[in-house]
Amino acid sequence: MVGQKLYILKLGGSLLTDKQKPESIRYEILTRITQEIINTKEKLILIHGGGSFGHPLAKKYKIFDGLDRKVVDQTLGLSRTHYAMNKFNSLIIKSFLDNNFPVLPIQTSSSFIQDSRQTFSQAINIIEATLDLDIMPILYGDILLSMDGSFSIISGDQIIFLLCRDLKNYKVSKVIFAMDVDGIYIKGKKNEKDHKLAEIIHKKELNDLELVKMDRKIDVTGGIEGKIKAIETILEFEIPIQLINGLKEGYIYNSLKNYSINCTTILP
Ligand code: IPE
Repeated sequence: MVGQKLYILKLGGSLLTDKQKPESIRYEILTRITQEIINTKEKLILIHGGGSFGHPLAKKYKIFDGLDRKVVDQTLGLSRTHYAMNKFNSLIIKSFLDNNFPVLPIQTSSSFIQDSRQTFSQAINIIEATLDLDIMPILYGDILLSMDGSFSIISGDQIIFLLCRDLKNYKVSKVIFAMDVDGIYIKGKKNEKDHKLAEIIHKKELNDLELVKMDRKIDVTGGIEGKIKAIETILEFEIPIQLINGLKEGYIYNSLKNYSINCTTILP
């Protein structure tokens, strides 16, 4: 059926992992979020970021910047980055299966490819067939191969843009970014205490706001600037976006149910 309602939810890497400790998952948070998602009974595509699985390796081997013969063992680093993300993904898949909930991992690096100008989706039919069966597809930030002999990183945020652009039989009614902060903060006049959560932002205001930078210590995909860029591209499809705090109990459930919460909503 063309135009079925669908949500896309991204669980940020910093929500599910401890960014200070390589390959460390925050199990209590994952278990609670798994339950919240299952309880909504909504149709969605789940996407997760790299956190302390993908980012440290991607940074070490300079994967984001593409093929560089000066980086020792870079292609091995490419494999290792993917393997780390695959391990992370398996733990998330297991969390749903432990609750007898049908999910299917969609391997991102085999589902998208780029040339020098753009990224192409290669697995839209598979993702839609998965959704048709009421199985929740789970994708993740990963390595991205290029047809011109190089590579990069594809972030969860970029995947969302590509899905919003390329899904055929489903209409994305909202994109939700679950993070470890309440949303986007606008800079206060004097100091940090004056920073204020932006509750509703309209697309045209996005560039004029003085935003507070997010922590980007190990983030190879661009911190708040990268996030805003991704948000702008998603808004092109007239899809509303919510940035919410996944650490707060019930927020993911409430957002998927369209109940009101303290967060940032960005309207096209
Ligand atoms: C990054 O994905 C993936 C890799 C580093 C391999 P994201 O950019 O979506 O990850 P988070 O949410 O910032 O951790």
